[in-house]
Amino acid sequence: MQRIMNQIQNKNIILGLTGSIAVYKSAELTRLLLDQGIQVQVVMTDAACRFITPATMQALSGKPVFTELWQDNHATNQMDHINLGRTTNAILIAPASADFIAKLAHGLADDLLSTVCLARDCPLIVAPAMNRKMWENPAMQRNLKQLETDGITILGPASGIQACGEEGMGRMLEPGELADAVFSFFWPKLLSGIKILITAGPTYEQIDAVRGITNRSSGKMGYAVAKAALELGAVVTMISGPTTLLCPHGIALKNVTSAAEMFSAVQELVADADIFIGVAAVADYRVAQPVEHKIKKSASTLTLELIPNPDILGYVAGLPSPPFCVGFAAESQNLREYAETKRKAKNIQLIAANLVQEAIGADDNEMVLLDAVGETILPRADKLTQARALLQRIIQLYRQGTQT
Ligand code: C5P
Repeated sequence: MQRIMNQIQNKNIILGLTGSIAVYKSAELTRLLLDQGIQVQVVMTDAACRFITPATMQALSGKPVFTELWQDNHATNQMDHINLGRTTNAILIAPASADFIAKLAHGLADDLLSTVCLARDCPLIVAPAMNRKMWENPAMQRNLKQLETDGITILGPASGIQACGEEGMGRMLEPGELADAVFSFFWPKLLSGIKILITAGPTYEQIDAVRGITNRSSGKMGYAVAKAALELGAVVTMISGPTTLLCPHGIALKNVTSAAEMFSAVQELVADADIFIGVAAVADYRVAQPVEHKIKKSASTLTLELIPNPDILGYVAGLPSPPFCVGFAAESQNLREYAETKRKAKNIQLIAANLVQEAIGADDNEMVLLDAVGETILPRADKLTQARALLQRIIQLYRQGTQT
């Protein structure tokens, strides 16, 4: 995995800026791309320079910014428009204005950035940003379809409040989402076309109108597994209990509250899954009779009757033709022994075991992966790193399974 990370960290991209107020986010995007180890060469259109200065972008990217087709040609052969697109691993246009998308759709080349795009020998990624009416305009949608037909990757836009005060589709994705998407773009697509269903987060079991039973799971591990699977090209669906986390762009998310709701969602979606990863900390019990209104305080003892919740992972593993099943075991002691017993009892291919006191709610943890072959120790690292390592092991085992 370190080899893959090193390869990505040696990538260069051209970041093309066009005329949209969303260009203020490109300054932060540049910083985030550099943080990921990706080198950034900024090229700006005249319209982009009206919103943000090349000096800002030069200071952030650490390289002279290219703006002109004629005047500031840096190459001795006067061929910046050819050279730039040859020495880069991808071009990202963020923000891509309606006008620039129209140019790309029609192959126009009347400034440096559009010429670089036309002369490119690398993938092109476009992050649209515009007013919602412009986005919905049939001409815009026609141009967008043309870009997709031409194999150009489109990221976003998102819906929300716009700089013009209107609300709707057309907001450029946030810098963090774009930086993650670029990073994922370079990741080898070892799970291309594979459908992965993930459960994440805690569940909340209602006692009355204001009280409930839940646990300290933050959902960080499940969301990290979803993100790592997306990087590898999988088609990811995540069923999440209540968390405060943002779902990575590109994941189909279904929000649920209780274990019963999570179970129904899994039953509905599992038939389509090639791999099921149960990361959720599902409550083992729920209240037999939840009360609609708030229970009033009294001097006498309050007794709650708790009944067991369905074992979601056990159900999936027990289906007549189950997907490849992965579980998590959070134990407070006898980690390997309890986890391996659990793996066998649930009849699943792989279990990721960690100590509750180390993992729950934390940003990093230490894990042991147990499968029929043996164990893999994942030393302490952040949860995304752990999730990537877990998926590498899943890929090995899944491939062996599908080959036999
Ligand atoms: O059953 P136990 O909680 O010990 O095992 C943990 C694993 O089982 C996790 O992968 C968790 O997502 C899953 N699980 C489940 N449904 C339950 C309890 C746990 O899917 N009711």
